[in-house]
Amino acid sequence: MIEAFRKLYGSAEGVRVFRAPGRVNLIGEHTDYNLGFVLPVALELATTIATAPSGDGKLRIYSEERQELREFDITAIPTLAPTHDWTDYPIGVAQQLIAAGVSIAPANLLIRSTVPEGSGLSSSAALEVSSALAFLNGRAFDKLQLVTLCQRAERNFVGVPVGIMDQYISVFGRKHSAVEIDCRSLNHRLVQLPGGITFVAVNTMVKHALSGSAYRDRVRECAEAVELIAKVYPNVKSLRDVTPEQFETVAARLPEVVARRARHVVTENARVNRYTDASQRGDLALMGKLMVESHRSLQYDYEVSCAELDFLVDTALPMAGVLGSRMTGGGFGGCTVTLLRADAAPAFRDAISQAYKQKFDVTPAIYPCDPSDGASEITAGQL
Ligand code: GLA
Repeated sequence: MIEAFRKLYGSAEGVRVFRAPGRVNLIGEHTDYNLGFVLPVALELATTIATAPSGDGKLRIYSEERQELREFDITAIPTLAPTHDWTDYPIGVAQQLIAAGVSIAPANLLIRSTVPEGSGLSSSAALEVSSALAFLNGRAFDKLQLVTLCQRAERNFVGVPVGIMDQYISVFGRKHSAVEIDCRSLNHRLVQLPGGITFVAVNTMVKHALSGSAYRDRVRECAEAVELIAKVYPNVKSLRDVTPEQFETVAARLPEVVARRARHVVTENARVNRYTDASQRGDLALMGKLMVESHRSLQYDYEVSCAELDFLVDTALPMAGVLGSRMTGGGFGGCTVTLLRADAAPAFRDAISQAYKQKFDVTPAIYPCDPSDGASEITAGQL
């Protein structure tokens, strides 16, 4: 990476390298903006940024993936408007840092990423968090503040009303562990995963156009549910506050679609808690069952799945060694995550790949999901 940097900018003097991982969410989908629970793991797939001072008042950002170089006057950054392309992520983050009192120094950046875009593995958050670390360039900064700042960049500048999960896990991920995040208190705890199993992500290779607008619709429908449920239970401030039992008492008063959206969130939150318990007890059968319930709930109640995701789940479930499978991330394409016995993984990869190719004439990319550490600087020895 240093060589690529030198080639691009003519010198690699003072270069430092920062990495932020993508994630796969094991369970707890569309619960984060409802202030509930999620259980992601940080992946080895990551966005890496090399940065060195530019000394000429400019910020240059090069994306290897796009093979595009963009140049900005440092003094213009605070007033830049979104351009609706990949630069909105780093620029949005730069503006948030400036708003938080952090100066952005003139610098050259080189971005390299192994997180596939549009795959539901959170390439956006990996880019935001790695950008933030590159702009900080080693200066100390509170980790939780970093998380919320990157989320604000995506909400306010990129313009998607995302929850906190992706940025949080990119910062707080931990090797060998899943991380249960309480999206209200913003605390987390590490969750031990049973031995002898593994998680595999299978990419549908599609991202349906609906994803952005449907995400906003779901956020709105959840807010509507809260407003209506609060008329009966005034203490309810978000769907997080609604127990499955309470929900049943009000379900009939909600418009049909709103009721199904709320039921997904309420039951999904309960599933996260049961799943973490099951994981710690090594109850593989229950973990698998909860993942499938989660998928069905996303498929029928929340309606964010699609034919390709459903096919991958339905095809995976009867395969040898598979314990559970579900869509992961926002939906409408992207990946499924499958829980299976580690020794069954090679045969599973071959079989699911073949079946998907036969059905959709596309070879799905497949990624191992071994939990990695959260964002940090990469030292010369690790490069
Ligand atoms: C996207 C968002 C997250 C979360 C998931 C769905 O990845 O960025 O905040 O809402 O969708 O669980």
